[in-house]
Amino acid sequence: MKSYWIESKKSKQYENLKENIETDICIIGGGLTGITTAYYLNQYKIRNIILEKDRICSRTTGHSTAKVTSQHGLFYKYLIDSKGEEFAKKYYEANEEAIKNIENIINQEKIECEFEKQSAYVFAQTLEGMQNIKDEIGAVKQIGGNVNLVEAQDIAINKIKKEENNPMKALIAIEFPNQAQFNVYKYGTGLAEICEKRQTKIYEKSKVIGMSEAEKGYEIYLENGSIVKTKYVVIATKYPIIDIPGYHFLKMYQETANVIVVDPKDKVLEGMYINEESPTISLRKIKDKDKDYLIVAGFEHKTGAKIDLSNSYEYLKKVAQNLYPKSEIKYQWNTEDCIPLDKIPYIGEFSKNMEHVYVGTGYKEWGMTTSNIAANIIVDKIMEKDNKYADIFSATRLEPIKNRKELGNMIKESVQSVIINKLKSPKETIEQLQENEGGIVEVDGEKVGVYKNEKGEIFKVKPVCQHLGCELSWNNLDKTWDCPCHGSRYDYKGNLIYGPSVKNLEKRE
Ligand SMILES: Cc1cc2nc3c(=O)[nH]c(=O)nc-3n(C[C@H](O)[C@H](O)[C@H](O)COP(=O)(O)OP(=O)(O)OC[C@H]3O[C@@H](n4cnc5c(N)ncnc54)[C@H](O)[C@@H]3O)c2cc1C
Ligand code: FES
Repeated sequence: MKSYWIESKKSKQYENLKENIETDICIIGGGLTGITTAYYLNQYKIRNIILEKDRICSRTTGHSTAKVTSQHGLFYKYLIDSKGEEFAKKYYEANEEAIKNIENIINQEKIECEFEKQSAYVFAQTLEGMQNIKDEIGAVKQIGGNVNLVEAQDIAINKIKKEENNPMKALIAIEFPNQAQFNVYKYGTGLAEICEKRQTKIYEKSKVIGMSEAEKGYEIYLENGSIVKTKYVVIATKYPIIDIPGYHFLKMYQETANVIVVDPKDKVLEGMYINEESPTISLRKIKDKDKDYLIVAGFEHKTGAKIDLSNSYEYLKKVAQNLYPKSEIKYQWNTEDCIPLDKIPYIGEFSKNMEHVYVGTGYKEWGMTTSNIAANIIVDKIMEKDNKYADIFSATRLEPIKNRKELGNMIKESVQSVIINKLKSPKETIEQLQENEGGIVEVDGEKVGVYKNEKGEIFKVKPVCQHLGCELSWNNLDKTWDCPCHGSRYDYKGNLIYGPSVKNLEKRE
């Protein structure tokens, strides 16, 4: 489960918070959202701290494919149809501006992160997909966007292999020129180092478990007992760790996708690609000194879904080998991101009932630009400045809850997980579990989550999510306990990996 990005740099480590402190702005979460917010805050010379439960950029940020683009799949036709032309135009411009902002930061601060300009393509492999691409080109042009139609003979992916039966063969593509790619870990940790030289104090291994209103602001509670007093709070934990009054747990779920980095033993094509059809495959080159690697991502699924994941890396390897037959997997991992029910990120005030608390979440796997947009909006709100994009991302909007079909699915899933599954008796007994296998079994009349490792050692947990009590699913690929309700994930020993939960699982002897 090693990320190429995280292995590519030995980054600075920060101490954990061991005492009670006061600050003006407390940012919870040290991914790209938290760090970029701190960066822009420092322009105003305001005291701020980042509290990170693990290490800076060690979660979704350090595991992405790191395309910096305003092309978020085929999205602009959907936006015009569901939200109107003005909305779609603002969304496009906000993301284009974010690409420029990131480039400016890299140049001004001299962050070495292999930033390079590339075109981003969505390609179609079916007739229906071709039509969708043509519609999307019309939509992007309608809002004044810069976009090109690329015919099959000019798509680089088709030029790698001559065979007619190339399974990656693209029929047509939409090109967004002048987009970018980079090494996100070098960028994020580089930015963190710059922040730390200015007003930001960074604390790693400092998990927040709650907050409450206090005189002149808020008190933030850490797992080790330390308390931070602050005037403003920025929740940058990806999935908010505070449920009420934000209610984001009713407005989004999480999706996991798998990623591999291969040595293709060849020169890799230029450009960043994603297909229109399902299953989604996303790919791009990584330039590592004098060598090219290929990063391939896909196999998206709702976190905690009861599906067989065992072949997912093999599947991605086959995709790579279709293009470069000698490809060898060097790194593989997976990570997850939040998907809002109406597909628009939630950025801004956390709740109308909580003054001076802000959030940036729901980036639907396009967080490189969106985290920059979020940081700008949040800082403008704190500084009481207008931001022309703030209204379209409002985090307090209720429209997603009106998406009855999606909300219905989410509620059905939660009821299934919280009540129905818990009443069902498990099929397996502890003896029936093979080595290197896990599952829910009955022990002395109680349901227990069990993992048996290669040596036959047994690890037992209570298979109930510490967030809102859903029954967990066993993930035999990663050996994790995954929550189908809002996507919290725990390792086989019960240690929390991804929130919104803030607690480890209860152990069982
Ligand atoms: C497979 C995949 C590929 C992707 N590829 C791309 C791409 O090519 N381009 C793109 O634009 N986007 C991509 N994304 C999306 C992008 O990576 C994310 O949207 C973005 O990294 C989110 O950043 P973040 O800072 O909000 O979250 P994170 O990076 O997850 O940061 C949140 C931080 O908060 C910390 N935290 C959580 N709980 C607590 C707590 N209780 N106390 C303290 N700290 C806490 C976490 O440890 C974490 O470090 C991809 C996503 C996936 C899943
Ligand atoms: S993540 Fe919400 S109940 Fe598990």
